[in-house]
Amino acid sequence: PFEIELARSKTVLTVPADSSVLDVITAAGADVLSSCRQGVCGTCEIIVLAGEPDHRDSVLDDTERAAGACMFACVSRSRSDRLVIDL
Ligand code: FES
Repeated sequence: PFEIELARSKTVLTVPADSSVLDVITAAGADVLSSCRQGVCGTCEIIVLAGEPDHRDSVLDDTERAAGACMFACVSRSRSDRLVIDL
């Protein structure tokens, strides 16, 4: 598990192993669109302000992956204990 902090509302959520970031943040009321839910369409992009995403999508190239400035919430997870996202 890891934590997601919604920067605007200062809400901290826990993402368990069996849930996606997308599921957890939308259940908390975040307004994030999604489509494929398999990391291929890019619809569910979220902006990462701090922390290191564990990218599991098929959208980003290596440079974007290394930058870690955005991630796709339907599949990607976190290498750090907490990700701070711009929501
Ligand atoms: Fe398609 Fe996340 S919903 S990449």
